[in-house]
Amino acid sequence: MADRILVLDAGTTSTRAMVFSRDGRLEGVAQAELTQHYPRPGWVEHDPAEIWERTLACAREVIGGDASAIAAIGITNQRETVVAWDRESGDPLARAIVWQDRRTAQFCAGMKDYGHEAEVQRRTGLLLDPYFSGTKMRWMLDNDEAVRGAAQTGRLAFGTVESWLVYKLSGGDHVTDASNASRTLLLALDGAQFDGDLCELFGVPQAALPRVVDTHGELARCHAQWLGCDIPICGLAGDQQSATIGQGCLAFGETKATYGTGAFVLTNKGQEIPHSDNRLLGTVLYQENGVRTYAIEGSCFVAGSLIKYLRDQLGLIASAAETEDLARSIEDSGEVVIVPALAGLGAPHWKPDARGVISGLSFASGRAQIARAALEAMAHQTHDLANAFAADGAPWCRLHIDGGMSVNDWMAQDLADILALEVDRPDFVETTALGAAILAAVGCGMHASLQEAADAMRGGARCFAPQMDGEVREARLARYARALTAA
Ligand code: G3P
Repeated sequence: MADRILVLDAGTTSTRAMVFSRDGRLEGVAQAELTQHYPRPGWVEHDPAEIWERTLACAREVIGGDASAIAAIGITNQRETVVAWDRESGDPLARAIVWQDRRTAQFCAGMKDYGHEAEVQRRTGLLLDPYFSGTKMRWMLDNDEAVRGAAQTGRLAFGTVESWLVYKLSGGDHVTDASNASRTLLLALDGAQFDGDLCELFGVPQAALPRVVDTHGELARCHAQWLGCDIPICGLAGDQQSATIGQGCLAFGETKATYGTGAFVLTNKGQEIPHSDNRLLGTVLYQENGVRTYAIEGSCFVAGSLIKYLRDQLGLIASAAETEDLARSIEDSGEVVIVPALAGLGAPHWKPDARGVISGLSFASGRAQIARAALEAMAHQTHDLANAFAADGAPWCRLHIDGGMSVNDWMAQDLADILALEVDRPDFVETTALGAAILAAVGCGMHASLQEAADAMRGGARCFAPQMDGEVREARLARYARALTAA
């Protein structure tokens, strides 16, 4: 009987395939790393063929050659990353430009100088920052001959990663879901399809863009040649929207924070189009039968990638898990502070040219102090967001955390302490994948509504309550604020 959901979670550092049962049990995982290309400082690229091949290989591995139990596929993905391909051959035309890439910073600054930001924000919910897809598409058109040539002959297809995977799996459907579309700068939050005026403003041909579809329902079909059966694709969402659903944040005001490669906080804003006066983003959370539910978002570009940097570039730790023991081995960081602006600063500062800072070093600062400061930076970045959300009239009552880094108990406690808020962590922290499973389960009719699916598929959670002394907390906040000015 086909009663399982296959989730493809195409993230930034790795791509995964997972099988979920109808009640949300994880029955299998296959994972493959993605090659990160850094051709110049501030540039980050992926190979779209590698994303496709490794995702497909993971899907084949996790189903073990038999897809007959799979009722539907859900796809979730690193957002904003742009893929350009030839719509006739289906081959990539260039390396994908990854969301972390800063190469369009100058272009964005120019558009700000021309006074476009207020209108862009009003229409799209986004700001003029190289993070979003639109200026990356424009860069490809201006700088890559193959992309420009394909645009001239009408063969260019642009898409974010879910769009690329659907195109390959379906053998030619060119669609994107509303949550991913809302990260491009080319979709008005109240517009059903990509917007002609916005496309003109950013110099992106509308004909190269996909059709915008719901986040759940029968959205496309995976051709039998790939997994042995023809399977409906019934859920599509950007990974942060997916995690919000996986956390069951389905009611107005509910908030989650995911600590993956970056850290992203989303608060459900219901069906009202959100507007921020404090440099947060308005975004589509999900779209059901054409009706949108929105979220307000704070995006920090560096979270788990800082720990990876300590491990792979600096060689300070052998594994991410070691940071917890190191943090516990000392009383405090000895005034060492890290501002993780290695890819510029996202919300609420939006400084694409900012760079990372380690301050307060003394001869007593060893690897433990630096590892602890790296973990502390997660709470500080989140605290900056908490202030911005509160100033926007969306204070958090409690915070639901998830993502690979959240398994670190020390970090979870530090978050509760610095935010002075109860923090909940689900027993199953892979809520991004669970969210895509929930969407696909509703999309294929296995569950009747997102709420019903979330109730059936989500497990228990552990609560971390604040316990830090007020003075210690204030001193930490002041030190971080000082270090931030140097980023
Ligand atoms: O917006 C970028 C985001 O989608 C990347 O997510 O999981 O790779 O941190 P992640």
